[in-house]
Formats: sequence, C-alpha cells, structure tokens
Amino acid sequence: MLLNILKNRRVLFFGGKGGVGKTTLASATAAGLAQQGRRILVVSTDPAHNLGHLWEREIGAKPVSLMAGLDGIELDPGSTVDEHLKTVENSLRKLMPERLHKEVKRHLEQAREAPGMVEAALLERIAVTLETGLAHYDTVIFDTAPTGHTTRLLELPELMAAWTDGLLKNRERSGNFTRALGQFKAVDADNDVASNLFEDEPTRDHEMRAVLMRRQDRFRKLREILTDGETTAFMIVLTAERLPVLETIELCQRLHDLQVSVGGLIVNRRSPRGESALLDQRAKNEDEHLAKLIKALQPKVPEIKQIPLSANEIIGGQELVHFSSAYLG
Ligand SMILES: Nc1ncnc2c1ncn2[C@@H]1O[C@H](COP(=O)(O)OP(=O)(O)O)[C@@H](O)[C@H]1O
Ligand SMILES: [Mg+2]
Repeated sequence: MLLNILKNRRVLFFGGKGGVGKTTLASATAAGLAQQGRRILVVSTDPAHNLGHLWEREIGAKPVSLMAGLDGIELDPGSTVDEHLKTVENSLRKLMPERLHKEVKRHLEQAREAPGMVEAALLERIAVTLETGLAHYDTVIFDTAPTGHTTRLLELPELMAAWTDGLLKNRERSGNFTRALGQFKAVDADNDVASNLFEDEPTRDHEMRAVLMRRQDRFRKLREILTDGETTAFMIVLTAERLPVLETIELCQRLHDLQVSVGGLIVNRRSPRGESALLDQRAKNEDEHLAKLIKALQPKVPEIKQIPLSANEIIGGQELVHFSSAYLG
C-alpha cells in the first residue's frame, strides 16, 4: 500500500518530469506526516528551488522550521561547490608542502569548471544531509530535480566509490614508490632537497588515505541506504500526459537497474468528470495515457495513486496538510 510506504519508509524521494507536482507532493507528504506527530526533514535538491516559494519563506543550506515537526533545507549546487572546494582545499593544504599551496588553489579554481563537479559536490552534500537527517528526524524526504538530473545523481555513488577506489590503489602504488625512493634517499643522505621532499611523505600519505577512505565510506553508505527497499522508496510523480508517461516508463527502468525500489506512481492533477466537455475530453485522454503506462510497465506495475486537479493553488502549511489528507488519511 502506498499509504504504508509513505508512512513506513524513512527515506522518500519524489521525482519525475518538471512541473508535474514533485515539490507540492514532497511538501504535502512532509506536512501530513509532521501533522501526525513525526519529525520530518524535507530537502530540495532541485536547482529551481521552489520549496521556499511553496512555503513562502527563505530556505537555505541549514534547516529552517516550516511547521511544528517539519524542517526544510534547499541544497544549492553553486554554494555547495564552493563549500566542497573550500573543504578540499583545506585538507590539501594540510597535506601538501607550503610551496605547493598556490598551485593547489589554482588547480581547484580550474576544478570548479570541471564536468561533474557540481554533481559530485551535490552528492556529497546529499550523503551528509541524509546521514545527519536520519540521526535527527524520523523521515527524510527529498524533493528532487527533474528526471535526468536525478537518475544521474543516483548513479553517482557507485561511480564515485569506484573512482575513490582507483585513487586509493594509486596511493598504494605511490606509497611503494615513495618507499623505493626512500632507500635512494638513504644513500643520498646529505642531499637537502631530497630530504625536504620526502620528509612528511608517510604522514601525508596516511592522511590522504584517511580522507579518501572517509569519502568512499560515505558514498558506500549512501548507496546502501538508497538500495535498501525497507528504508528507501522512490515515488514517481507524473501527470497523465504523453511526455510524463514516457519519462515515467524510462525512470522506472533506470530505478530498477539501479536497484532502487519504486514506492509508487502518483498521478497528479487528474481532470474531474461531469464538469465540462473540455474536462471530460481531458479526463478521457488521461485514461488512455494511463492505460498505455500500465501496459508498458507490465508485469511489474507499481501501485498507482491518483490525485485530483485542485481548483486553488496549494501554498503554505495548512493547505498542504489538507491536500495530503486526500492520500495520507
Ligand atoms: N493537484 C494539483 N492541483 C492543482 N495544481 C497543482 C496540483 N499539484 C501541483 N499543482 C501546481 O502545479 C505547479 C507545479 O507543481 P510543483 O510541485 O512545483 O511541480 P514540480 O516540483 O514537479 O516542478 C504548481 O503551481 C502547483 O501549485
Ligand atoms: Mg519542484
């Protein structure tokens, strides 16, 4: 039951095409669960950041109280990259001899523009936010970016773990290399340049290894949480129209490949019948799109929950709680 999944999973993702209602449903679910006495953290990873608009207040990188029992965070990719690079710079500064510090800074300035940088930084923030979120809240709810961004992000923990693995292996090799050079150094004991260069090498190696191991550990844990179907569920939000339906079919497949459990499909903004010829026609078209969706997902069709088109805009805590009662009870 969708209801059980929303109530029982500690980590919920809301994903889907842009504009279908992810932010609204993530927020309404968060508000409804908070109303029932849970401690909830809602996290937006969408650069568009509509969470703040929906709650009519500024939300940033630190938790902001949205209502009793509910806090919100917006992870901003730009400032996340800045923070990330600052942390990397600080640890590199500690690890590198002082004469290389300028070089480190220059290198990191270039890294800011490197492909994948924003994603890597965002992923690290997500991992940290989830870890601390689970320690302080009953449920952590992610309002994610449109489909493409999100699946890419879900693929990353594995890629990053493999990448850090590679780096660690390289460090091991260079450790051996250092030892080999160390013997050389012993021979050339009174050469100042050589001794300065090698002096801190074992400590630096050790610390660098520790930094990489921590990161790898963090990504492993994130991947574990994401693929644990008892803990995490991914809710796909869509409208019953051609493009959202096509994206939903693809997203289901990607999530399946990534071993992330699909908690259910939420078909939002269903047109009412018997109001007008226009809406009747829309409702009929929607039925056809949904039939196609169900056929395409056979034999494993996730549970489907339909949410009616609401006459008014859904803004603020009270309206969100009310909106959520339609599916949370
Ligand atoms: N069931 C609904 N009935 C009417 N309007 C809705 C409904 N669900 C969402 N909306 C509206 O649709 C727009 C897009 O919703 P939003 O949650 O921001 O989508 P997303 O986060 O997927 O881009 C918003 O203006 C929101 O108020
Ligand atoms: Mg949104």
